[in-house]
Amino acid sequence: MRFDGKVGIVTGGASGIGRATAVGFARRGGVVIVADHSERGARAVAEEIAGLGGKAEPIKTDVTKEADIQAAVALARKQFGRLDFIHNNAYAFGKGWEPALAGDFKDEFWDHAINIGLTAVFRGTRAALAVMREQGSGSIVNTASISGLFADYKNSAYNAVKAGVINFTRAVAQEYGPMGIRANCVCPGVIATPPVVQMTTDPERRKRFAQKVPLRRMGQPEELANVVLFLASDLSSYVTGAAYVCDGGLTLSSRVEL
Ligand SMILES: NC(=O)c1ccc[n+]([C@@H]2O[C@H](COP(=O)([O-])OP(=O)(O)OC[C@H]3O[C@@H](n4cnc5c(N)ncnc54)[C@H](O)[C@@H]3O)[C@@H](O)[C@H]2O)c1
Repeated sequence: MRFDGKVGIVTGGASGIGRATAVGFARRGGVVIVADHSERGARAVAEEIAGLGGKAEPIKTDVTKEADIQAAVALARKQFGRLDFIHNNAYAFGKGWEPALAGDFKDEFWDHAINIGLTAVFRGTRAALAVMREQGSGSIVNTASISGLFADYKNSAYNAVKAGVINFTRAVAQEYGPMGIRANCVCPGVIATPPVVQMTTDPERRKRFAQKVPLRRMGQPEELANVVLFLASDLSSYVTGAAYVCDGGLTLSSRVEL
């Protein structure tokens, strides 16, 4: 899998799944724009990529701001003349967010989830499509979640947002397939990214979780990034509108036991 001559943008590229995707894309010859609202984080990943002999440009991007997304796409177009891949991936729970039943959910956390999780994916897609349509090619990969396929408990906004990402991706795939543009999403299970590692420091809790997963562990960011990169690459040239589950088997069970 190579990305020589290709240009990509990864939102939320400073950490976790986004970081692994950005590094993986650049390691395989692509130029990557690391777009993250952590300027320092984006710069650190771009430096890491340069240290590996790859090419990356950091840009401070708040995906909830239309102008910031436009600026990231403009950077790709102006500096590198094209855009082959966008990974709409950034997400963070709002400050002060706590799990809550739907009936107790606060507007501010609902609005935040929709803005960062769904509206930003739409805007990132729209901005990328403007360039990809001119080229007649491109691959859009959105980060959804198994939480978009099934309901968590006390996490209804996230469940709604990630389900929205899955079906938005299908809509885009249908509309832009005839123009040579593919759109897919990935549905991670539990992946050991910094926020998840922080939430699961208790070894007993980790062990209990692992027992629920057929592969008996959390995923690594690189394992998820590998799926994203496959969808970004020409190896998946006949795949569009898909929601790829990458969860170690966590959601495969019907729960029926005979
Ligand atoms: N880790 C998991 O278990 C898991 C499971 C399912 C889905 N996901 C999804 O994967 C994606 C990446 O999550 P992660 O676990 O790698 O998290 P992470 O916290 O490691 O990375 C998220 C990145 O997004 C950036 N970010 C946050 N708000 C932003 C904003 N407004 N604009 C731009 N950048 C912003 C952060 O600075 C960070 O670098 C998210 O969409 C998340 O919902 C993760």
